[in-house]
Amino acid sequence: MRVSKKDTEKKIEALLRELTLEEKSRMIHASEFFRSGDVPRLGIPKITTSDGPMGVRNDFHPADWHPVGTSADAVSYLPCNTAIASTWNRELARMSGEVLGREARGRGKDMILAPGINIKRNPLCGRNFEYMSEDPYLIAEMVVPLIEGIQENDVSACVKHFACNAQEWERLWVNVELDERTLREIYLPGFEAAVKRAKTKALMGSYNLVRGEHGSQSKFLLTDILRKEWKYDGLVVSDWGAVHDTKAAAESGLDLEMSVFPNFDDYYLGKPVIEAVKKGEIKEEDLDKKVRNILRFMLRVRMIEIELTEKKNGRTAAKAVPVEDRDPGYYNGSAMHYFAKQTAREAVVMLKNEKKRLPIKPSMTKRLLVIGNNADRKQSNGGGSGEIKALYEVTPLMGLTREYGGNTEVRYTPGYYVPKKTKEDTSWQEDSVSAEIMSDPSVRDKRKVAAEEKKRIKEYREEAVRLAKEYEEVVIVGGLDHNYDTEGMDRKDLKLPYAQDELINAVLAVNPRAVVVMFAGSPVDMTAWSDKAQAILWMAYNGMEGGTALAEVISGTVNPSGKLPESLPSDFKKTSAAVFGDYPGRKLTAAEKKKMNATMTQTFKDGVFVGYRFYEKFDVPVQYEFGYGLSYTEYKYSGMTVEKAKGKDALFTVSIKVKNTGHVAGKEAVQLYVGEKAVSEANPVKELKGFDKAELAPGEEKTVKFMLTAKDFSHFDNETNTWQQMKGKMVIYIGASSRDIRAKKEVTLK
Ligand code: GLC
Repeated sequence: MRVSKKDTEKKIEALLRELTLEEKSRMIHASEFFRSGDVPRLGIPKITTSDGPMGVRNDFHPADWHPVGTSADAVSYLPCNTAIASTWNRELARMSGEVLGREARGRGKDMILAPGINIKRNPLCGRNFEYMSEDPYLIAEMVVPLIEGIQENDVSACVKHFACNAQEWERLWVNVELDERTLREIYLPGFEAAVKRAKTKALMGSYNLVRGEHGSQSKFLLTDILRKEWKYDGLVVSDWGAVHDTKAAAESGLDLEMSVFPNFDDYYLGKPVIEAVKKGEIKEEDLDKKVRNILRFMLRVRMIEIELTEKKNGRTAAKAVPVEDRDPGYYNGSAMHYFAKQTAREAVVMLKNEKKRLPIKPSMTKRLLVIGNNADRKQSNGGGSGEIKALYEVTPLMGLTREYGGNTEVRYTPGYYVPKKTKEDTSWQEDSVSAEIMSDPSVRDKRKVAAEEKKRIKEYREEAVRLAKEYEEVVIVGGLDHNYDTEGMDRKDLKLPYAQDELINAVLAVNPRAVVVMFAGSPVDMTAWSDKAQAILWMAYNGMEGGTALAEVISGTVNPSGKLPESLPSDFKKTSAAVFGDYPGRKLTAAEKKKMNATMTQTFKDGVFVGYRFYEKFDVPVQYEFGYGLSYTEYKYSGMTVEKAKGKDALFTVSIKVKNTGHVAGKEAVQLYVGEKAVSEANPVKELKGFDKAELAPGEEKTVKFMLTAKDFSHFDNETNTWQQMKGKMVIYIGASSRDIRAKKEVTLK
């Protein structure tokens, strides 16, 4: 039965009163790599956390970065957050969340350290694949159902990394400076939606500094914004090794300190905070706030109930007891694999399809050549903390072989050579907070390419070209892998690694019909060959059924409906982070050195002009734009209407008719943007304020409706520190992408 908030808080107070200072300290820092400290005397358990956004990470020993290594912790491997965002389908986001949450519970976790929703501002950032988009509206609309899905099963999401975590280079020590409007309009909305709409029960602070404070102990972010302004009473956990000061951590809105070292009681909120309280340097009340949030978290995910007992002397005693009917969760159910497949199917983006090159019909295909290491590579077990020990993973090669079946000869050749990783170091995470790991990405590329390697590269390419001459149908699967899309390291540029440009051009030279698939979690430069290729597909790390989904799109079984959740620039030097930002950051001034323990400062001088907001404002061409994606059918947009809305702060209702004018069923992500008619200096040309995915049979027409509020036409004003609604002539755009505008109407705001 529902316990009232007042009763809950009363119980929390009663249990808090039972705790000694030492016991409070135990609860607010790790006792194992993925667990908080417990108080057995009072029945208070450890909170069990686990990575990550693409599934429940394999188990580690309590204090040792070697995997436990049993067969029990292989799990469902979901499409990455970029892939989920590529579907533009809120229901698939919810479904992915449900799978992730049920599996986390089924693996005995109380909190899954997901989703990652940092803004994809810098295409070089190694962790882009773990994040969703460059656009805060798309992020907010997809993260809410994802978190709601996760939290259905007595387990908590942990939205991360709060905030402005946009690079891996010196990720612990880079300080981010940005103006209030940029923070409020671009970097906070996804987190604000996670907190206020999805009611995330936990949130993770970031490694980097914001305005001189480390994200995981920041008074500005965790107390002023999260606790005071957003009234967040959920649990805040640090990133692993992101706390650097006892007093700052104690007095900020942080609740639980985690790290990557086994000397748990030496953590800042371990023995040091006990000493500091005893010396009067820190108020015990600051620890009480943390313990309250932890106990409230435990109640919310039904780890415990709090029982009050009347003592002889009239005082109420309290203790925590386990909840009998807590959801046991479940993992590796076949339904979960089906959901992973459904999401993967809608995450594949078709970038080009000239001369109806695709689909390649199985019935007409006797032989198919598959070129490229990414066709036969398992991606799940890489990328850093987001790594997954997948129960299985259908690679593109397996997907294609299965899709085309026994009557088609499917031949594979690697095409490009990927050097074997030198040491399979499982203590990667312990090193992950040491400076040299997150240093200059060109370090990796300075590595000498051995003569042996050069020979291999040449052999693989020659073999691929020889075969490509003999095969009618050729699919090249290249792109990036978790040697490049990885935590702890940024890329040096957007170029394809492993000399893939040469391979693709050499194959296209002998077989211009070859289809190219880019398998990557962040943008790559395709300009060396994209004009020559007739067909190009793009897929982010797409989970255990990613190979199935890709093959089904290639064969035509699935009509692709994915659209880009981020712009695909061709050159880092033409992105906002390079043109405006001082990536990776400039040296600290003497004043800054005194104020913060950072090694460099990166000022987000691009402001709100991130992603398509930047490329449109400054007319910078990109390879493919935000919101872009092709289909095997065509859609006609017509009959746009805009009406004044009746409602509290509703301004307009907008509708558009969308008709499938082709011969195959499909789904279309219809997008709505708003912008000023005469775009002022300070504002983007247009901004995404609505989208819906319409499923349409051949010939079918549907009306898609949108509601616009005052907030959709408002900007944050740095002078007055308030949201201001724009006035005058506005334009409402309806598009199949941010560039492909199919209808627009003007309105005037008083
Ligand atoms: C890592 C990551 C974070 C992850 C945590 C635990 O360094 O930054 O996303 O959840 O530590 O592995």
